[in-house]
Amino acid sequence: MCGIVGYIGKRKASSVLIEGLKRLEYRGYDSAGVSIIDGKKGYVVKSVGKVANLEDKIGDKDILGTVGIAHTRWATHGKPSDNNSHPHRDCTGNINLVHNGIIENYLELKNDLVKKGHKFRSETDSEVLAHLIEELNKKMPYEEAVLEVLKKIRGTYGLAIINKKEPDKIIVARSGSPLVLGVGDGEYVVASDVSAIIRHTQQVVYLEDGEVAVITRDGYEVKTVKNQARNKKVTNLDWSLEKAEKQGYAHFMLKEIFEQPSAIEDAMRGRLVAEDGMAKLGGLQSVAEKLRKIEKIIIVSCGTSYYAGLVGEYMIEEYAGIPVEVEYASEFRYRKPIMNFKTVVIAISQSGETADTLAAIREAKNKGALTLGIVNTVGSTIARETDAGVYNHAGPEIGVASTKAFTSQLSILVLFTLMLGRQRDMSLVMGQRIAKEMRKIPKMVKNILAEEKEIKKIAKKYAGYKDFLYLGRKYNFPIATEGALKIKEISYVHAEGYPTGEMKHGPIALIDENFPSIFIAPKDSVYEKTISGMQEIKARGGKIIAIATEGDKEIKKVADDVIYIPKTLEMLTPLLAVVPLQLFAYHVGVAKGLDVDKPRNLAKSVTVE
Ligand code: G6P
Repeated sequence: MCGIVGYIGKRKASSVLIEGLKRLEYRGYDSAGVSIIDGKKGYVVKSVGKVANLEDKIGDKDILGTVGIAHTRWATHGKPSDNNSHPHRDCTGNINLVHNGIIENYLELKNDLVKKGHKFRSETDSEVLAHLIEELNKKMPYEEAVLEVLKKIRGTYGLAIINKKEPDKIIVARSGSPLVLGVGDGEYVVASDVSAIIRHTQQVVYLEDGEVAVITRDGYEVKTVKNQARNKKVTNLDWSLEKAEKQGYAHFMLKEIFEQPSAIEDAMRGRLVAEDGMAKLGGLQSVAEKLRKIEKIIIVSCGTSYYAGLVGEYMIEEYAGIPVEVEYASEFRYRKPIMNFKTVVIAISQSGETADTLAAIREAKNKGALTLGIVNTVGSTIARETDAGVYNHAGPEIGVASTKAFTSQLSILVLFTLMLGRQRDMSLVMGQRIAKEMRKIPKMVKNILAEEKEIKKIAKKYAGYKDFLYLGRKYNFPIATEGALKIKEISYVHAEGYPTGEMKHGPIALIDENFPSIFIAPKDSVYEKTISGMQEIKARGGKIIAIATEGDKEIKKVADDVIYIPKTLEMLTPLLAVVPLQLFAYHVGVAKGLDVDKPRNLAKSVTVE
C-alpha cells in the first residue's frame, strides 16, 4: 500500500504534490519522491523516510514545472532506500512513473528486459513498468505502448505516468489499487484517495478497475485497457479533510476492520496455488531445503501477534505434524529455551520493531536456530535480521489495536501450514480443500462486515457491563483471548479470555447476571462441548453472546444474543470469528465515547522492554 499523486495545471506542481503526499502519508511513509517536468527539463527528487525529509531535500529549489507525479511508499519489494523509492524511470529517464500495488509477474518481465539490455536501478517490481513502456514505445506510439504494458502485467496497480517527450500529459491507470481524479478549473489532481484532492476541488471522478485516463490541461479522456471509451460521472464531494483520510470511516480502526477482505486477499496474492493444494512463499525460497528437515517450531511474538501464533500452533501441528511452541517474546528471552539447528524460530510482528520480539530473535540466532519473520512492515528491523520471511502486504495499520494485521497473519500461517504440510504427509486432496476454502474467506469476511449494524446493536446493549468472559475451544481458544484483548484495549473493560473447558476451574465463580460471557461456538469438532459450557454459564444466571455458524437455530435456546458467521473448515474459523469480536469491541468503545484509535497508555509499536 502506497500513496500516489499527480498534478497537471497552471500552478507549480511541486507544492500541490508535496501537500498531497502529506495527506496520503498514512498509506505508507518509508520513503517518498517526486518527478516534475518543466519544459524539456525533468526534476526527480527522492528521499528515505517521511515526506518531510523529501520536502527538506527539495529545500529552496524553485521547481517551476506544472506537471508532475509523486509517491509515498510502503515497501513491498526491496527495502526502503533512495533507489527503491518512486518515481521509477526507464533507461533514458524520459518515462517516469509511480505505482501502488504489486506486479506479480515482474521477475519474468524483468529478466526478459535485462536480456534486451535494459539497466535497472532498483529492486522493485514497479521499475519493470517504465522499461517495458520504453521497450514497446520503440515499435508503437507512447499511449499505445502504455495500454500494451497493462495487458502484459499481472497483479494490482494504481499508476501515474509522465513522459518528457510528451510533457503535457499524465496517463493514469487502475486495477485493484484505488485512483481518483480531481477535476479543477484548468487543472487536475489525481491521487490514491480524495484526501489529497479536496483542498483543490470537490469535483471527482472515481476510476474503476481496468480503466485508463489520459489527462491534459484541456481535459481528460477515460478508456478501458482495450481502448474503448468510457463515459464517467463527475461526483461532487462534500467531505472535510479529516473525513477524507479515513475514507469516510469514523476511525482508522473501523476502516482497517473493513479492509480485512482485501488484506487477506493481498496476503494470498500470487502465493496460493489452489490446483496443487500448495502455497509458494517466495521469501522462504532461500531456506526451503532447511524447512523440509525441521523438527520443531517456536513462535515468538507479543500482543495480538502472539494470539495469531497460537492459532498457528493448532494449524501446523494438525496439518503439518511438526511440534510447535508459542512463547511470549518477553518470556522467551529470559528462559532457557531448548533448540538446535533443526529448530525454526518464527517472529510474528506487525511493526517488525517490537523490542521483545527482536531480542527473542537475536537470542534464537545466537543459539543456532533458523529464524523467520512474518512481518507487515517491509525493511523493519525484524524483517532485516531474520534469515528469511514472509511479508503480510496488509498496508499500514494506524489504529493502535491490531485488526487487519491479525487476520493477515492468520492467512500467512494458513499458507505456511499448507507449504510445510504438503512437504510432509498432507495429501493433494486435503491441500486443495484448504486452498479452495481459503479463497472464499475474503468474501465470507465481507458478509460478516455487512452485519455491522446488528453487531453494533448488541454492543450498545452490553456497553454498560464492567466485566466479560470470552470462551473458545481448540482453534477458537486464541480467538477468545484476542477478543478479550480487543475490548480491554479499546473500551477499558475488564475481560478474560479462557479455554471453554478451563472455565469451570475458576472463572465460573465470577459469573452472575452482571458478568456476561461471549462464546465462540461454530459448528466444529468441539461444538457439543462448547454448548455444554454455555449451559453451565446459563445455569448460573450468566448472560451469553454466541458467535455461531449460520443456520444454527438451536443455539438461540441457550444464548441471549447470537452473531452468525459463515460455515467454513474448522481451521479457518478463527479468520471469521474474530471479525464480530473486533466490531463488538469497537462499538462498545464508541458507545462509551472513547478515542478508539489512540487508547490510553498504549503504543502502536513498543520499542522498549
Ligand atoms: C503493541 C500493540 C499491539 C500489538 C503488539 C505487538 O502492544 O498495541 O496491537 O499486537 O504491540 O506488536 P507487533 O508490531 O510486534 O505485532
